[in-house]
Amino acid sequence: MQPVDPHLPVAHLRPLRNWVNDPNGLVFDNGQYHVFFQYNPNGPDHGDIHWGHFRSPDLVRWELLPVALAPTPGGDDADGCWSGNAIADDGRLVAFYCGKRADRWWQPITTATSRDGGYTWEKRARPLIPQPPAGTTMYRDPYVWRQDGRWRMLVGAALEGGRPAALLYESPDLENWTYLGPFHTGAPGEAAGWECPQYATFGDRGVLVVSHWDLQHGPQHVAVTSGHEEHGRFTASPPVPLDHGPDFYAPALLRAPDGRWLLWGWAPEARTADWVREAGWSGALTLPRELTLADDGTVCQRPARELLGLRTRRILRATGELTGSPVDLGEVSRAFDLSATLTGESGLRLVTSADDTEYLDIRLEPDAGGLVVDRGHASRDPRARRGAYALPRPRADAVDLRILVDGSIVEVYPAGGQVLTLRFYPTGDGPWRLRALGSGRFAAEAWDLRADVIHRELLPALDARERN
Ligand code: FRU
Repeated sequence: MQPVDPHLPVAHLRPLRNWVNDPNGLVFDNGQYHVFFQYNPNGPDHGDIHWGHFRSPDLVRWELLPVALAPTPGGDDADGCWSGNAIADDGRLVAFYCGKRADRWWQPITTATSRDGGYTWEKRARPLIPQPPAGTTMYRDPYVWRQDGRWRMLVGAALEGGRPAALLYESPDLENWTYLGPFHTGAPGEAAGWECPQYATFGDRGVLVVSHWDLQHGPQHVAVTSGHEEHGRFTASPPVPLDHGPDFYAPALLRAPDGRWLLWGWAPEARTADWVREAGWSGALTLPRELTLADDGTVCQRPARELLGLRTRRILRATGELTGSPVDLGEVSRAFDLSATLTGESGLRLVTSADDTEYLDIRLEPDAGGLVVDRGHASRDPRARRGAYALPRPRADAVDLRILVDGSIVEVYPAGGQVLTLRFYPTGDGPWRLRALGSGRFAAEAWDLRADVIHRELLPALDARERN
């Protein structure tokens, strides 16, 4: 048996090997949450994109199912089944996605239908929307939802003249679609285009999430705006980052059966391509988050409440006052869920090497304007990206935090509803330790994160082992 790669997350969804990017086709149907995702089953790089498929009854127990969609040789998606979403209607799942072919610049919108819960799919013979509207220079990533008795679709785009846009279509029957013009556009030059537009309604208000894409550098960051729609045009507040970390992109929304809006993103790698090739895998989905809209229009996120069900053994509990000397809080595992409170200029250090030279810091820094997550010393391997990233400091003396650490991913949620996602690559072996430092008061309590993911890909190997 190969030793398990310590950077592989256990609770963040991804297959054990190869490439993963955007979450796709998020839908609840017949008692199951379905999370599809962009997946190259044959290598750790972006190419030959399929739709992989996870399923869960409760957001705690997950199962990796067989690949859902694969490119059809010679077909409209010959070079990839790119991103989109899915809806449940009339006893079937309909996946809306875009077909990649290297020989055209746009990705036509097409569909596939499943009548067995996402195991097998039938693709339509010709694309549903073969051509982008005139005046478009980028076109992909459908998002379909039902509103006020009709079906609606946004498509990520860029318009001639350099404006990113989300284009709106409507349909009475999922088959015949009418183009209604841009739902919302960004400032000229703000991004080469918007990818993966997502739209959540909260009564008569709406939240639009778009992923900013750059021609030269690819994925940039994710912006969110809230506002009102009138006759197919969205009037919104100025965009703000949906996530304050460097490693978060292309999130997608799911309407849970109880009406909550849940969101998963893609946490790409923050290390060199040669290290990725050595590791044999790239990317993971974030943990699911609940998205809410405050009265003042602020979009808030917190870990889905179901994730409390992943906590098992409590591994640490400490409170104290810091006056400059660090305080050791004890050992933690490589996947844990931490609740903490910090005041003043206190912070937490996750020490990942025996000689204390490798660590990830999370600290209050009044001057830097907030809560800083610093990976400057988080890997002794120079192939890992560095840098410190700030979250706006919540307006409270004592900052309550939830921190989810999983192999090489950290998600930091201060109580105010902001979030920061970051990748880091510790190299030290031996136990990880948590330390409080700075000045101020702290409280921390941590639990092991249980992995409850069944990888069907492993079952044949496990079966063979049992038989021997
Ligand atoms: C976003 C994205 C989408 C595209 C897909 C391809 O990360 O570039 O725009 O459909 O990934 O994998």
